[in-house]
Amino acid sequence: MAEIYAIPARVQEGGQQPISTMGAWLEARHRWRNDPSAFWLNITQSTIAWSTEPTVGLNGDYYSVKETPFSWFEDGQLNITESCLDRHVETQPNKTAIIWEGDEPGDVRKISYRDLHGSVCQAANCLSSMGVKSGDRVIIYMGMVPEAAVAMLACARIGAVHSVVFGGFSADALRDRIEDCGASVVITQDEGLRGGRRIPLKATTDDAVSGDSPVSKVLVYQRTKADIGWTEGRDVWWHEAVEASAPVCEATIVPAEHPLFILYTSGSTGRPKGVLHTCGGYITYTSYTHRTVFDLRDDDVYACVADVGWITGHSYIVYGPLANGATTLMFESTPLYPDAGRYWDMVERHKITIFYTAPTAIRALAAHGSDPVRKYDRTSLRVLGTVGEPINPDAWTWYHEVVGEGRCTIVDTWWQTETGGICITPIAPVTPPKPGSATLPLPGIEPVLVDPETQTEIRGPGQGHLCLGYPWPGQARTVYGDHARYISTYFSAYDGLYFTGDGCRRDADGYHWITGRIDDVLNVSGHRMGTAEFEAALVSNNAVAEAAVVGYPHPLKGQGVYAYIVLQDEAMATIEADLNGTVRTAIGAHARVDLFQIVPGLPKTRSGKVMRRILRKVAEGESDKLGDVSTLADPSVVEAIIAGAQT
Ligand code: WTA
Repeated sequence: MAEIYAIPARVQEGGQQPISTMGAWLEARHRWRNDPSAFWLNITQSTIAWSTEPTVGLNGDYYSVKETPFSWFEDGQLNITESCLDRHVETQPNKTAIIWEGDEPGDVRKISYRDLHGSVCQAANCLSSMGVKSGDRVIIYMGMVPEAAVAMLACARIGAVHSVVFGGFSADALRDRIEDCGASVVITQDEGLRGGRRIPLKATTDDAVSGDSPVSKVLVYQRTKADIGWTEGRDVWWHEAVEASAPVCEATIVPAEHPLFILYTSGSTGRPKGVLHTCGGYITYTSYTHRTVFDLRDDDVYACVADVGWITGHSYIVYGPLANGATTLMFESTPLYPDAGRYWDMVERHKITIFYTAPTAIRALAAHGSDPVRKYDRTSLRVLGTVGEPINPDAWTWYHEVVGEGRCTIVDTWWQTETGGICITPIAPVTPPKPGSATLPLPGIEPVLVDPETQTEIRGPGQGHLCLGYPWPGQARTVYGDHARYISTYFSAYDGLYFTGDGCRRDADGYHWITGRIDDVLNVSGHRMGTAEFEAALVSNNAVAEAAVVGYPHPLKGQGVYAYIVLQDEAMATIEADLNGTVRTAIGAHARVDLFQIVPGLPKTRSGKVMRRILRKVAEGESDKLGDVSTLADPSVVEAIIAGAQT
């Protein structure tokens, strides 16, 4: 395929048609370029249940966003749960909406669309009885149980705004998020269960809401029946309050741009940002991308093994699949419990047709060889997806050859919390793949590569900073409570473009190869964390004077975390475990520094700025390629750092 931009103009109806040939992809792309608003209005009107259909597509652009968020479908009104539930209850009430696979293999629940609708209405009524109103924020801090999805949809049912916090986060991290969004209710469970380990979700919640907190009610789902602390008047059992509520709850109709959820994500600087997504555009985009990318069919059994605490769980376990009336799987356990065959055991038992996971899981499983895979029947599989980090060609090939028996389509999907849904990806089974490439943009997405030196667009093949040139309905609208931060993070690097923070190469066929973050964001096993968060946690330890954290290539995790530490007291030999304890308390169990180096000082410019470029090179084992060091205030620091390098 040659240059993707040289396509003759052609307008055609029917944006909701599946893309079944590369010609149809080109045609859809062109139809979108010709009139983006008409393209997306056509899709949303034909696929989403609106109370009042929108007549306006996009309002605003990447310049006016500096004053006001852009909007999609602004005169439309809806409640997205009617797209996810009510219309399916009318047409396919007995179809399984959620297959839940618990921590122990074979611990399974199947929930029909009718039952899911009933549970969501009960939970919505329960939240209303606790005083939650449209626009109020509710924190969901749970493991992978169906009730987490019920809680999300229940918020949406009454116009409340959920913020799911991944169950691995610490009490400090949970408290920060509760305070930032001013949540009045937390929904949690007694304990989570993962790989045979118990996760004390209620105890952590108790910690996070102790003292002065905006939280007045804690709704607790009972998962393990563990003994837990209980605060009368504040804590409420799910099985008492929700199950006693009426199973009918009229959906609160809201404007298209009403907020749906806030999801906190790490950036280069400061604390995690509350990325805000809104109702009409998000549901349009997640349902469109879910059915288009995965070639969704009525009888598919679709399994995304992410966690609802991350955007992948929001868009491709809950909202996209349910809007499409699909059967979606929720998985409570880990890929290695009880052994490395767990995913494929599930594929055989549930006859999974579409399977979506992350490169870090694929690499971990490939390290166990092909026997645990071949033990199970995988003939049901048709499409295999990957997301979260660049996939190395070896892992891609193992996924394709061993898991997919060489006959399944692999879709390497590039996107972000901020993009709401998949942006650059093959379309199954149409796009010719190249192992390691996210390939081509979906219709509606305009990748722009910018040369950071010249600040000019690279046309055709080249490598640069990945930006996106035009808004799409699923794009985040703002950072909750801090629009200025949204602008400075995404719209100030390059005028008129959305800056993704990723580097990217485009080859002569127009295929995109994501090279990873170019900012100070780490991607460790697909978990997105800021170097600034690690540094803030490390220096909060009394023994540390200064800290600088960078990433380095790690064979299993993608990136490892490398910390340079200046100690207050050189005698602290057992400091590392202590420091990681501090990190765990501040961020959560998934965050850990892999390598520490005690250094006499950090390499700084004469104006006092830390020269991370040098730290990155040393961490990557490339001390001989430091480049220009003439601006260093004290070159002897660098010599000491190189001498003590850990990689
Ligand atoms: C990275 C996850 C390469 C990228 C949905 C992005 C990827 C960050 C891919 C967003 C992919 C995601 N190939 N890199 N297919 N998918 N990334 O917000 O660096 O948790 O900016 O969203 O993950 O991470 P986030």
